[in-house]
Amino acid sequence: MPIIHHHIASLRDTLKHYRSQQRIALVPTMGNLHDGHLALVTLAKQHADIVVVSIFVNPTQFGVGEDFNSYPRMLEADVAKLTTVGTDYVFAPTSDEMYPILPLPTSIHAGAITTQLCGQTRPTHFDGVGIVVSKLFNIVQPNVAIFGQKDYQQLAIIKQLVRDLSYPIDIITAPIVRATDGLALSSRNQYLSPEERNIAPLLQQELQRLAQQFTASQHTQKGFEALIVEASKRITAAGFIVDYLEVKTAELEALNSKSAKPTTGSQDLIIVVAAWLGRARLLDNLLVTIY
Ligand code: PAJ
Repeated sequence: MPIIHHHIASLRDTLKHYRSQQRIALVPTMGNLHDGHLALVTLAKQHADIVVVSIFVNPTQFGVGEDFNSYPRMLEADVAKLTTVGTDYVFAPTSDEMYPILPLPTSIHAGAITTQLCGQTRPTHFDGVGIVVSKLFNIVQPNVAIFGQKDYQQLAIIKQLVRDLSYPIDIITAPIVRATDGLALSSRNQYLSPEERNIAPLLQQELQRLAQQFTASQHTQKGFEALIVEASKRITAAGFIVDYLEVKTAELEALNSKSAKPTTGSQDLIIVVAAWLGRARLLDNLLVTIY
């Protein structure tokens, strides 16, 4: 069973005894844990001796009218799950512990990368992620930190943060964990009604279909844009409200030409989608290499 710390000072005090001899991994989460989170812990254990999981529903990354108040908080059940994968420490601070003053006068803004994709409808979200992750990095001072590919834009922003602020932390990417029908696991999937839950895997199926079309070079005849529009129409027809469906380079740069083939060799692309289904905003993505 992991030892739970609610205070920054006590966690720091504990971790300082390990620092010189052992590697520390941090797995940041907002709790309401599922197998996707637990896979991050399992991966963390492969890269470090001591694993710290943070559980904090971070107020600064939620916009006005978003689900901050209703976001499920279930520390006891989460700790029980973390016990099964061998977590050493849980850091579960209160909001006052993390933010003695709100709004915080200091900000972390990761620039242009935060205004695209999710940033279009959640303009302050990634500033909130940036500040909380920076604080967690400073509190835990891990050697490695694990983030899921499921939140692809978040992962890209964290990598940029580590580079730009010179954090001595290796960022490890964990692959997306899915239900057997393909739906990416998410704490927000429990907002889905049984009917919506049956429809939800279509999102992943459409990403797969697009990836196949790209691999079969259909984009060279039709253009990425036309294939994306067709997929978007099918997703909408199934009952989703599409927030965005885009294809970018794996570094999240826009493609130079919507239909161009790369001039030399292969190109790694990412197909990213966010779509509402009832009360749940679902995210998914798929990496595809085209030649
Ligand atoms: P949360 O949504 O709880 O996710 C915590 C971590 O679990 C993130 O790195 C996320 O990408 C990963 N994750 C979620 N679902 C996954 C899945 N199906 N497969 C693999 N990994 C998955 O992301 C956040 O919290 C917050 O923004 C946080 C980084 C903790 C900052 O508050």
